[in-house]
Amino acid sequence: MIKSYLEVAVDIAQEAGKVLREEMERPPTIAYKGDFDLVTQADRRSEQVIVRLLQEHFPQHAVAAEEGTGKDTGSEYRWHVDPLDGTTNFAHGYPCFCVSMALAHRKELLLGVIYNPVYQELFAAARGEGATFNGRKIRCSKIDALKNSLLCTGFPNHQRQSLSNIHFYRDFTLRSHGVRRDGSAALDLAYVAMGRFDSFWEFGLNAWDTAAGVVLVEEAGGKITDIHGQPYVLGGPSILASNGLIHAEMVSVAAEVAERIITQ
Ligand code: IPD
Ligand code: CA
Ligand code: CA
Repeated sequence: MIKSYLEVAVDIAQEAGKVLREEMERPPTIAYKGDFDLVTQADRRSEQVIVRLLQEHFPQHAVAAEEGTGKDTGSEYRWHVDPLDGTTNFAHGYPCFCVSMALAHRKELLLGVIYNPVYQELFAAARGEGATFNGRKIRCSKIDALKNSLLCTGFPNHQRQSLSNIHFYRDFTLRSHGVRRDGSAALDLAYVAMGRFDSFWEFGLNAWDTAAGVVLVEEAGGKITDIHGQPYVLGGPSILASNGLIHAEMVSVAAEVAERIITQ
């Protein structure tokens, strides 16, 4: 059952990806949801395609989509949809963005699909079935020390005045091979699942940003918690994803930084 849902989700993500590729060829139409929170015609068109196809295939299911066109049917099955994760990148022609879709049954995430239409990189995972990259099985990296790791983080488009993540960014940069800031949380998580990054953290993400990536990382053998090492709640204040092997070190450095911020 989950596998057939996954097949449909993959097709839909690829359809939405076609729209994003088309939109890439035009000058972006940028509007603002907040001071730095962009939305483009591409976000809206991609969401239109996804919501329409989900409703065609699964009319009973609820759909929670970022741009607000989903519908709460009251079903126990809920799709979490980010039609374009990495809008700022998209608007600047930086080819790091994706479509992200996940299906949950009550609180359990069943599957996740993340698709970068520029590089045609497709990440997919179903609970208990493992994770794949363009059809091949993937696992998280085997790096077992923070000092040998490549990390990634992101900064929210809203509440920029309280950028406490800059302190975490500084410490993790000094203690690892480096910290990347790629601008697409969903791809960041997919990259942890396939071993390009060893860990990713961020504050203030929404369910549509992380749901698919969480399934991918867990199915690739990695670990997901909040920044304190406590169970991750979808849409909660922080997320920490890793290959599992450097998770305790990440939590401990984060605790040091948090302590310092409080006592400053
Ligand atoms: C954003 C991206 C970015 C993250 C922001 C998100 P959007 O999503 O995932 O990497 O740092 O917090 O809001 O707005 O491009 O869908
Ligand atoms: Ca997003
Ligand atoms: Ca988005």
